[in-house]
Amino acid sequence: MIDDARPAGAPAATPATPGRPHPDGTPPRDSLPPELGSLPLETLRETIAAELLAARARTAALTDCVEDHDLTAQHSPLMSPLVWDLAHIGNQEELWLLRNVGGRDPMHPEIDPLYDAFEHPRAERPSLPLLPPPEARAYAHEVRGRVLDLLGASPLEGAPLLDAGFAFGMIAQHEQQHDETMLITHQLRKGAPALAAPPPPPAPADAATLPADVLIPAGPFTMGTDTEPWALDNERPAHQVGLPAFRLDTTPVTNGAYRRFIADGGYDEPRWWTAEGWAHRQQAGLTAPLFWRHEGGEWLRRRFGLLEPVPADEPVLHVSWYEADAYARWAGRRLPTEAEWEKAARHDPASGRSRRYPWGDAAPGPEHANLGQRHLRPAPAGSYPGGESPYGVRQLMGDVWEWTASDFRPYPGFRAWPYKEYSEVFFGPEYKVLRGGCFAVAPVACRGTFRNWDYPVRRQIFAGFRTAVDVEAG
Ligand SMILES: [Fe+2]
Repeated sequence: MIDDARPAGAPAATPATPGRPHPDGTPPRDSLPPELGSLPLETLRETIAAELLAARARTAALTDCVEDHDLTAQHSPLMSPLVWDLAHIGNQEELWLLRNVGGRDPMHPEIDPLYDAFEHPRAERPSLPLLPPPEARAYAHEVRGRVLDLLGASPLEGAPLLDAGFAFGMIAQHEQQHDETMLITHQLRKGAPALAAPPPPPAPADAATLPADVLIPAGPFTMGTDTEPWALDNERPAHQVGLPAFRLDTTPVTNGAYRRFIADGGYDEPRWWTAEGWAHRQQAGLTAPLFWRHEGGEWLRRRFGLLEPVPADEPVLHVSWYEADAYARWAGRRLPTEAEWEKAARHDPASGRSRRYPWGDAAPGPEHANLGQRHLRPAPAGSYPGGESPYGVRQLMGDVWEWTASDFRPYPGFRAWPYKEYSEVFFGPEYKVLRGGCFAVAPVACRGTFRNWDYPVRRQIFAGFRTAVDVEAG
C-alpha cells in the first residue's frame, strides 16, 4: 500500500539529511548482484538509463492520453490527482539522486512539502497548490536531464546508495510503482476509455487439463535475498524457513470459480468470513468484486472505461483480502502464507536453491509472465507455461497480485534501508502481504522476493488470490 501514495514500498519521505551520505551506513547486503554488480560500468549505466527511460515513457503514456482537467481532477478519494503523481515522481528523483547521491542544492525547496506523501494524505492533495500539468512535466523533465548527466559521471560504486546503481534502480522502481498507481486511477476514472492495449494471448492447449493444485513437499527453503541488487530492505536478509507439506492452486482463482461462490450465497453466509471481514462486508455492502454489476442475468465489469461480460477463465481481480479469505474458507481451503507462496515460486527442489523467478534466474520476458502493462487485463488461467515453477505452479508472477494470509512483518535480521519510512513504519498486523505482481507491474519492480502490502479492505488495486490446503500428516 503503502505510504498511501504508492502501490509498493517506494520512497515517500524526505530522508533525514538530504545531500549527505545516509547515516545508516552500509545496506544489509552481503554481496553484489550476480548480474548488475558484475557488469562493466558503461553497460551498467546503459541498463540504468534504459530503465529510467522506460519508466518515463510509461509515465508519459499515462498522462498524455487525457486532458489537463483529467490530470488535475481527483477521480477517487483513494487516489491522488494524476498531476500530483507526475511531480512527485520528479521530486523523489531530485531528492534521492540529485541531492542525496549528487550533493546538489534543492531546485525548488518550496514544493517539497506538497509532494511529501507522509505530509498530505491523498484526499487532501487536490486542495494543495500543486504545479499545473505543464510545470509538473517541465520539472520532471528538468530533473531527469540532470540525473542522466549525473549517471554519466557516477562511478556507481564506493557508497551504499551507489553500489550497482542501487539508488538509480530504486528510483526507476519508484516511478514504475507510481505508474501502477496511475493505472489504478485510470481504472477508477469515469468517462470514455483513454488507454488501449492488445489482449493477452489465449490460454495454451493444456490449460484445461492442468491439475487443480500441486503438492509442495515439506522442507526448508531460502526466503528473501542477500544478493538481489535492487531488492528493497523488506526483502532482506535471506533466511531459512521450514514448512510442512501443503498443496497450492496451480493457477489463481478464476472469475468463473468466484461466481460460484457468489451464486452459493458466499456473501450472505457469515461463517465463511472473519468477524472483521463480516463487519466490513455488512458495512460496505459488498456483494461482488469491485467494478462488477449484475445485469440481465449476466455479470458485467467495467474495465478502463469499457463495460464487458466478466470472462470466466480470467483470474478474479479487485477483491479485498476479506473476500479472498472468505472464498478460501467456502472452498474448504485457506490463503497461502507468504512463505508458502515464495517457496512455491522460488525453490528449486533439484538444486535446493531459491531462484530469482519461478522459471529461473533470467529476467522476465513476454514468454514468462503478463507484466509491464503490455495488456490491460490478466491472461486466462493456465497461461504462460514458460513461466511455470519447478513444482508446476503457473502465473505466480504477473497477471494479479496475490493476497497471502500473512501480516507484513520484518524478516529476522531486518535493517531499515535507506530509511525507516521505507518499510519499517508499516510493519504490523494492519497490513496483509501481496505477492507476485500484476499485469501493471514493470519487470524492474518484480521479483520472487518482492513484497507488497495493503489494508485488507482494499479493492481498487489489481489483486486476486490463489488458495492452499494443508496436507494431512501420515
Ligand atoms: Fe512515492
